Amino acid sequence: MKADVLLGLQWGDEGKGKVVDVLTPKYDVVARFQGGPNAGHTLEFEGNKYVLRSIPSGIFQGDKVNIIGNGVVLAPDLFMDEARELEKSGHNLHGRLHISKKAHLIMPTHRLLDAAYEAAKGKDKVGTTGKGIGPTYTDKVSRNGLRVGDILDNFDEKYAAHKARHEEILRSLNYTGYDITEVEHHWMEGVEYMKQFELVDSEHEVNRLLREGKSILCEGAQGTMLDVDFGSYPFVTSSNTICAGACTGLGLGPNKIGEVYGIIKAYCTRVGAGPFPTELCDDTGSKIRRIGHEYGAVTGRERRCGWIDLVALKYAIMVNGVTKLIMMKSDVLDTFETVKACVAYNHNGMFLDYFPYDINSGIEPVYVEMPGWKQDLSHITSADQFPQAFRDYITLLEHHLETPIAIISVGPDREQTIERNC
Ligand code: GDP
Ligand code: IMO
Ligand code: MG
Repeated sequence: MKADVLLGLQWGDEGKGKVVDVLTPKYDVVARFQGGPNAGHTLEFEGNKYVLRSIPSGIFQGDKVNIIGNGVVLAPDLFMDEARELEKSGHNLHGRLHISKKAHLIMPTHRLLDAAYEAAKGKDKVGTTGKGIGPTYTDKVSRNGLRVGDILDNFDEKYAAHKARHEEILRSLNYTGYDITEVEHHWMEGVEYMKQFELVDSEHEVNRLLREGKSILCEGAQGTMLDVDFGSYPFVTSSNTICAGACTGLGLGPNKIGEVYGIIKAYCTRVGAGPFPTELCDDTGSKIRRIGHEYGAVTGRERRCGWIDLVALKYAIMVNGVTKLIMMKSDVLDTFETVKACVAYNHNGMFLDYFPYDINSGIEPVYVEMPGWKQDLSHITSADQFPQAFRDYITLLEHHLETPIAIISVGPDREQTIERNC
């Protein structure tokens, strides 16, 4: 068996959580491979809404196994809060949630460092989620990290050494006057709490499962344009959000990857700072935000909104090897007179149909404008009910992206999902 990968192709919040939940019945296992509690994956079903941050979105479906892979960074306190919340709402995690011993731990001081580095950047702030993601991955790569497996042996001593090193850096950044006593207490409680879950060598587990014929869905976090190598650097997150991240973040060989599902919104959003060529800082952008409820699931920040960017998407499809597209939030554009899709960039007078090295300045989107469908899509139950103008929009996207759109989402609920034959 091969593992399928599902990931975002824009700047995050494409609707990955919903799709993973919808696809989970087809799989035995769901595995997260990168990112951490910077993610906010929303699922809605049976009138309830859940936001997952570190726990894979397959957790609501029966007895499926959910794995937090080695590529993830985990904050024990936030993980405990999230897990307890799920258990309170009647979802049993025991025996179903496995955590890689090689996943790195986000310490309270990593969150302080995140804030200190952002403050030091002044006007060039990334606008991080403040969850300590960057400093934790920095420690991992510079061989200074603490891992989940470390909690099993002599942990207090290791923790104290890492904390002292962080405090020294914080002093050098003049970041003082904080008091983390309470947070630290809660964090240590989280460390103890984690011990009741299966702490595993997840690379052995996923490969064994595939050998046994089990099916695995790998769930991406963030989006391709936030990838540390290929995103809009330096306004990115600190992990490889692309398909290759599933290989390194779970210990899967590239020949073990099957289908690669790329998730897109019918338009585009971004939270935090950084370039966004198709951003609409006008009434149209506000209308998309209002109808699409475009506010961050983690920080509550307003998401910046704009038209779909096919130049960036073509690039994202290329670096991920996407085999099928899934389009979300189509219903949000239901009331627009016309809709636009960016098919090229005008870069200081030059037309570019490929994604350039630098999109930080001088980029003007070139749009194709089409009539809107002006019809409520949210009650549609099969692709043959789509209005013609919406079909034309799909055709335009498939033509430019040279990739079929296999699933279309027309509302936040599990049920509002339409599979197409392609
Ligand atoms: P993720 O981070 O990629 O999982 O996405 P988020 O959960 O951060 O943001 C997606 C938001 O859109 C959530 O509030 C979902 O409930 C909602 N959503 C998902 N699919 C649809 C859809 O097809 N239509 C509408 N209107 N909302 C959707
Ligand atoms: P999901 O999985 C949208 C953004 C932050 C910031 C940048 C770096 O829900 O799609 P970080 O805290 O990672 O160091 O912040 O990345 N960002 C996201 N934006 N959705 C996310 O996750 C994000 N995770 C990080 O806003 O611009
Ligand atoms: Mg999100």
